[in-house]
Amino acid sequence: MLRLGLAVGLLLAAAAASPHAEYIEQLMKSSELGGRYSNDIYEDARLDVPELVRKYNYPLEEHFVTTEDGYILGMHRIPHGRDANNRPDPNKSIVFVMHGLFSSSADFVLMGPGTALGYILAEQGYDVWMGNARGNYYSRRHTRFNPDAILNTRFWEFSWDEIGNIDLPAMIDYALEYTGKKRLHYIGHSQGTTVFFVMGSLRPDYNEKIISMHAMGPVAYMAHNRHIIFNALAPYSTDLSRLANLVGIGEFLPNNNLMTWAGQTLCRDEVVFQAVCSNVMFVMGGWNREQHNTTMLPVKLGHTPAGASVRQLAHYGQGIDGKRFRRFDYGTIRNLRVYGRRNPPAYDLSKVTAPVFLHYSENDPFAHINDVTRLFRELGAPIGKFRVTNRRFSHIDFMWGIDAKTLVYNRIMNLIQAMDIHG
Ligand SMILES: *[C@@H]1O[C@H](CO)[C@@H](O)[C@H](O)[C@H]1NC(C)=O
Ligand SMILES: *[C@@H]1O[C@H](CO)[C@@H](O)[C@H](O)[C@H]1NC(C)=O
Repeated sequence: MLRLGLAVGLLLAAAAASPHAEYIEQLMKSSELGGRYSNDIYEDARLDVPELVRKYNYPLEEHFVTTEDGYILGMHRIPHGRDANNRPDPNKSIVFVMHGLFSSSADFVLMGPGTALGYILAEQGYDVWMGNARGNYYSRRHTRFNPDAILNTRFWEFSWDEIGNIDLPAMIDYALEYTGKKRLHYIGHSQGTTVFFVMGSLRPDYNEKIISMHAMGPVAYMAHNRHIIFNALAPYSTDLSRLANLVGIGEFLPNNNLMTWAGQTLCRDEVVFQAVCSNVMFVMGGWNREQHNTTMLPVKLGHTPAGASVRQLAHYGQGIDGKRFRRFDYGTIRNLRVYGRRNPPAYDLSKVTAPVFLHYSENDPFAHINDVTRLFRELGAPIGKFRVTNRRFSHIDFMWGIDAKTLVYNRIMNLIQAMDIHG
């Protein structure tokens, strides 16, 4: 019961953070931050993705696609590089990148040119499309439902099942249609890999549109999850999600000025609190000290969390608790209505016939080696499985790690190049 109490507390705290956004904004304005510390880091924490990318003189296009169930998703495209390959080249492949839980397309640019994956791919001449899942900062719109409706969670009634089943196909089709291409490469991180496996199993015709898929920190099975907070909450996930629904909370950890303010005030260089900030992030996110550039913490916090539904979290909790990779468990009565059976069906991974490469690490609390091995075994056409050579490399390091390029991205780009020639 103590753990359930803790869980409810966390949930309410997260929800309560949102209405205070205005107050925090006041605080930010009145605090000495107002300009005294404004350098690149603080500016980068406040700019949105299009502003940030353009600031560094890269081309950036915004695209919007409306899903069949009414969500308006924002996509960000870097069509070519700035230094090398600085012209559009219709012969170059598309690389579609998809962010993780609580994140957004910002993941792939916030570390800046030379370090962030989005820029690195663009410099290699790829046409980079960055997706945004329904509910995050860039995809927080719907043709009918209001994400901010009080005591009405209709907008938020989705998990990553819908993101994989509906959002990914919509965004992939849009990018292919817009460019006249037939197929693309896909790189996902964390939930960005989960949703791919969902798509591949529920919409198998999409496998043919994938030249190669690269899963960084792959998450499907979570039976061996080692994350203390996720493990503590997992047994209550279905109850919690129902409870949240009852009290009208659909969104979990929205992007708000609180985190930006905390990042800039408490977590910047030369502030004693920075160590505390970093520690909180290590525990929450599965970080690793060596790979974490503390100077960049305000930028990371300025863009994360970007918003997600309570149900996305609950769906992962069900996977940890039930040790299976299944569709969302609504409880018996609604399961019968939605799936025609008492328990949710498992995702059939053998239907994921796109060529998949898994990139994983020993120290990743969310993608344990045993779970990754099981995933690899059950996928329809797995090609390669690569363990990061640095043993301490962790989950978040795939996006923000100081050595992500040398340890992970270079290999992915070699594989992409090889698949372009042979695929
Ligand atoms: C693209 O490929 C075609 C056919 O191989 C070639 O004729 C054309 O010059 C290429 N375009 C660019 C911009 O490289
Ligand atoms: C950390 O980030 C700062 C600011 O972008 C940069 O100047 C520095 O080189 C980075 N450090 C490492 C080790 O990458």
